[in-house]
This record gives sequence, C-alpha cells and structure tokens, in this order.
Amino acid sequence: MTQRTVTLTDNATGKEYEFPIMEGTEGPDVVDMRAFYKDTGMFTYDPGFTSTASCDSTLTFIDGEKGILRHHGYAIEDLAEHCSFPEVCFLLLRGELPNHGQKETFKDEINNHTMVHDQIISLFHGFRRDAHPMAIMCGVVGALSAFYHDSLDISDPDQRWRASLRLIAKMPTIAAMVYKYSIGHPFVQPNNELSYAENFLRMTFSVPAARWYISPKVVRAMNKIFVLHADHEQNASTSTVRLAGSSQANPFACIAAGIASLWGPAHGGANEAVLRMLAEIGHKSRIPEFIKRAKDKDDPFRLMGFGHRVYKNYDPRAKVLRDSARDVLTEMGVIEEPLMELALELERIALEDEYFVERKLFPNVDFYSGIILKAMGFPTSMFTALFALGRTVGWVAQWNEMMSDKVQKIGRPRQLYIGQKSRDFVPLEKR
Ligand code: SDX
Repeated sequence: MTQRTVTLTDNATGKEYEFPIMEGTEGPDVVDMRAFYKDTGMFTYDPGFTSTASCDSTLTFIDGEKGILRHHGYAIEDLAEHCSFPEVCFLLLRGELPNHGQKETFKDEINNHTMVHDQIISLFHGFRRDAHPMAIMCGVVGALSAFYHDSLDISDPDQRWRASLRLIAKMPTIAAMVYKYSIGHPFVQPNNELSYAENFLRMTFSVPAARWYISPKVVRAMNKIFVLHADHEQNASTSTVRLAGSSQANPFACIAAGIASLWGPAHGGANEAVLRMLAEIGHKSRIPEFIKRAKDKDDPFRLMGFGHRVYKNYDPRAKVLRDSARDVLTEMGVIEEPLMELALELERIALEDEYFVERKLFPNVDFYSGIILKAMGFPTSMFTALFALGRTVGWVAQWNEMMSDKVQKIGRPRQLYIGQKSRDFVPLEKR
C-alpha cells in the first residue's frame, strides 16, 4: 500500500515538501512532522497545541464531537457504573480489566503502600493550617522522592511499578491528611479492610471519638468520581507530567508537576471555581448578568465548568455526575440544594444562548462535581485535590507509557523569535 503523504509548497520559492501521514485505530490521523525542521529549515507554530499530537497512546480515546470517552476501548459510562476505581487503575496500567485473581492481587499490591512514612507527618507541620490543599499536596508528593529511594530509578521497570503503586496507594492518605490538617483533627491511618473509596472517606471524615459509618451510596458516588477523573488523554497536567518525565525526573517529581498544573482554574481548579461562581451568582435572577459577562471580551470572567478544548458536545463525565448529584443529595438528606437548581438553570439558559451554541460550549466534568463533593461534606478548597487524587492513576499510566516508548526523547519545543536583532552593547554610563 502506498504511503499516504501531504505535500506543502512554499509559494515564495515553489519548493515542495512531503510528509508522511500516520493513521491510528480511531480519531484524527496525524502528519509526521519529525523531519519538518531538517527538511524545511522552519518550525511548525501551534501555541496551546490545538493541532498537535505529542505522542501516540493506547490509554484513552476521546471523540470531542460525539462526546465519547473510552479507556482501552471501554466506555466511561460503563466503567463508572460497573467498576471499582482499582479495577480502572488496573485497566489503565495493564490494558485489560482484571479477572478475579488479578483484582485481588492488585488490591493487595495497593494495600501494601497505603500508609505514608511517619516523618511525612512532620512535613505537614511545616505548613500553615490555612494553606491551600493543593499547595500542601504539591509539596508532599514531590517530597515522597526524599523517602522512597527504592523507587526512583526510572530505568528499572520494577522500581517504576513500585513508584506507580505507591502514588496510587498514597494519594488518598495524603489527601485525607491535607483535609485533617486544615481542620486541626488528628490524622486517621488507612484501614485496608475497606474499599479504596471508603478507606479514603473514613480517613477524611472519621474521628477517633466516634463510631464510623457512611452510606454505601456515598461510597459509590466517591468511587464514581475517582473513575470519571482517572485519565483524559494529553490534557495540560498530563502533558506536564510527560514533559517532566522526558527529562528522566523521578516519578514523584513528575506527579508533583502534574498537580501544580492541574491547580489552575482553567484546568482542574475549575471545580472549585464553579462553586465560587455559583455562590457569587446566588440566585437565578442574576444568571443573565453573568452570561452577559461571560460573553463580554473585555471581561475576563468565563463561565467556569463550561467549554473544553476537545469536547464540542456534552462532556460524558458531566452527564454521569449530573445524574449522580441527585442520588448523593437525596442520600445526604439534602432536599433543597439551591446550587444544584442554580446549576441546572444556568446550564439550560447557556445551552439556549447563541454564543455558547455557536462555540459548542457545554458543561464539562467540573460543572457538577463540586455540587456532589460539597454535599459529601468536602470544603470547596479540597475539590481540586480530589481531582488530583483521581487523576494520579492517569498521570502514572501516561508516564509509564512514555517511559516504555522507544520513540520518546526529551521534550524541547522551539519558538518563533520576535525579539531584538543583534545590537552593540551600551555601557551603564551611556544608558
Ligand atoms: C478540565 O484538557 C482536558 O481534558 C481537561 C480536563 C481533564 O479531564 O483533564 O477535561 C479537565 O480542565 C476541564 C475544563 C475546566 N475549565 C473550565 O471549566 C474553565 C472555563 N473554560 C474555559 O476556560 C475554556 O473553555 C477551556 C480552557 C476549558 C478551553 O479553552 P480553549 O480550548 O483554549 O478554548 P478558547 O479559549 O479558544 O475558547 C473558544 C471560544 C473563545 O471565544 P472567541 O474568542 O472564539 O470569541 O469560546 C470562548 C472563548 O472566549 N469560551 C468561553 C468559555 N470557554 C471558551 N466563553 C465563556 N465561558 C467559557 N467557559
């Protein structure tokens, strides 16, 4: 079969350049531009990487036009409905859903690492109690490389696997510690008899002075939230993890870099920003005022939880979360949740507005997640830390995929230089 190619012509010189087209199993084909600079002496230009594939991957497929999200071919709706989060972790790391034996073995492997080194507790005491949870999470996860020296050698597959297990196993413990530290409660050690989701909820909300109980429906919703956040192709924080990993930084440092990137309100910080926005709107009578501001180019305000670089349809994760919100609110005995009513009304109005329709701006994963997390009792400041908890397996799986990819090398983009041309030096006395 003849190799498909694209031919570019420089209309100033008439010179033609030919580049091969690579085809995947699904989604857009790519033009192999690796020889572009060598062949043309020019760079491609794509700020924000709107048309750039940074790698090939088997983990996640997104069809933005159809609102499809799959992990190794399985629809996110099915995984969220039928799988425990550790099953989805196994799928992302191994490429297949586990059978019974594999599921039990993997749970044991994770359970071996749920506790953190005792000296990490003193690390927490270096932070102010009112530090943002993401500031602490970023610091503590990066510091794990100071404790676990037997999982830093990125050239050793066993050490990469051990680091992967440690990160997935310890993130709930660290996230729960972040919350406990902020409210001055004692840390609660993990209890490996519990499921991943319930273990996290118990470490977060139980107190030594009282018996522990939580509704299975809330545990199920927590599990679903982790599954929905697990991985999402080459988003900003995942690309940050890959770029950090391409320099052969240790896995804990790479995941800390991902946490830092996720913190931004344009990315994972949006779930926190959505709750703050809904609280600011306050009543549905003020929705038109905020819709107007979101459309005003001179106003930096954007409708948080709306729009997406890839989804030009309803984010399938938002749909699952919208339905799940009802269950959690009812289970938590929250009959009237004005924020939920406000969010539904905001969505209805926005999706009828030409500006949003024309730009295909739909609710994304962050639009409803905060309402559920608030109903569960989490403070708004914890929302992005919970996103990071769920996304850690995606970052780890993408990092592992990159580390095993023979094609990958250190990420080092170029630029279009628009600065000063060469000029003579001016001594201080003459400036
Ligand atoms: C996540 O990449 C991922 O997969 C991320 C994520 C994951 O799982 O990892 O899905 C998680 O980060 C979800 C997104 C959460 N962020 C927000 O909800 C913040 C609000 N959304 C926007 O900031 C924005 O939509 C982005 C950042 C999400 C996407 O930005 P793009 O792709 O760069 O789009 P753009 O800025 O070029 O917008 C296109 C147009 C512009 O208008 P015009 O210049 O064409 O007139 O749409 C407008 C934008 O002004 N627009 C919005 C808007 N989002 C885009 N206008 C008002 N409100 C918004 N929310």
